[in-house]
Amino acid sequence: MGLTKDFFIMLSENQALNEAAKKYGLSLGANKVVAGVDIPSTITAIKDLNSKGITATVDNLGEFVFSKEEATKAKEEIIAMIKALDNSGVKAHMSIKLTQIGLDVDKEFCYENVREILMAAHQHGHMHINLDTEDYKHTVQTFEILDRLKGEFKNIGTVIQAYLFRATDDIEKYRDVRLRLVKGAYKETPDVAYQNKEDIDENFIKLIEQRLLSARTMTSIATHDDKIIEHAKKFINQHNLNKDLIEFQMLYGFRTELQEEIAKQGYQFCVYVPFGQDWYGYFMRRLAERPQNLQLVTKSIFTP
Ligand code: FDA
Repeated sequence: MGLTKDFFIMLSENQALNEAAKKYGLSLGANKVVAGVDIPSTITAIKDLNSKGITATVDNLGEFVFSKEEATKAKEEIIAMIKALDNSGVKAHMSIKLTQIGLDVDKEFCYENVREILMAAHQHGHMHINLDTEDYKHTVQTFEILDRLKGEFKNIGTVIQAYLFRATDDIEKYRDVRLRLVKGAYKETPDVAYQNKEDIDENFIKLIEQRLLSARTMTSIATHDDKIIEHAKKFINQHNLNKDLIEFQMLYGFRTELQEEIAKQGYQFCVYVPFGQDWYGYFMRRLAERPQNLQLVTKSIFTP
């Protein structure tokens, strides 16, 4: 793990900087990778994606939630977005992080919040709700909540992080659950996760193949990595897999030309659209993943 990566992860975890950033609106170039600070601007961005044949999974940004009041506020914002997405007729669903709706406050309270969100989504066009996965401790807790809800709700899914040793078993277990496959964005310890890029990439490919051959529902392959995308496309075609049950995903603002190209090739494509005031931690994690993303910052300083 490089120094730059550690540095940006450290910045992303700094609560004072997160708070300060909220006051400044989307700055430092974050407007290139965050769709908007409110619902109307986010819906405008989604309409633009839809016009290119691309759907969206929408994330209400938020970090450091340690009180029931903040978690309830976040839950209400998520439900407001669900209603707005449904009313506007855009092709979109939502991704949520359980720490934002109270996982660190009280697990049972968080479970009730997820249930409420799922009910609202169900009432609004059976909208899909993805439970994003976070650092290891929270990922395990997220799966526990998923296990309690997946029998009752069909509109629930989650994310498998390829750096985790347990990912193979989770893919087997969740054959009937809509899954997004990713490399994994957090810093994990060697007892639970692969540490070097080659091992993670190799496992990611293995997991994509395992999932595509065993899934009984939708799979999202979420990566900006050309090699992985090309491998997945080849695999899909070699095995003549049903493209209605597979989509590629990337983050808003990254590799936009490639996003459109893949959609034009006849693959389903979905963009992860973050919105809200709380953009700072998300933006710092993107810089940690790929120091070249710093171009966004320098360009924003030199461009009005
Ligand atoms: P990676 O960053 O490893 O890059 C590999 C190669 O791809 C690079 O060397 C370069 O060649 C190319 N490349 C990458 N970015 C490029 C760019 N901008 N321009 C040109 N070339 C580029 N994580 C998590 O832990 N939990 C979650 O719930 C999610 N959810 C999620 C949703 C979506 C839609 C995405 C795309 C990602 C996530 N992630 C996530 C993050 C994920 O785990 C991972 O950290 C990032 O996607 C970075 O890994 P990549 O696979 O994109 O390639």
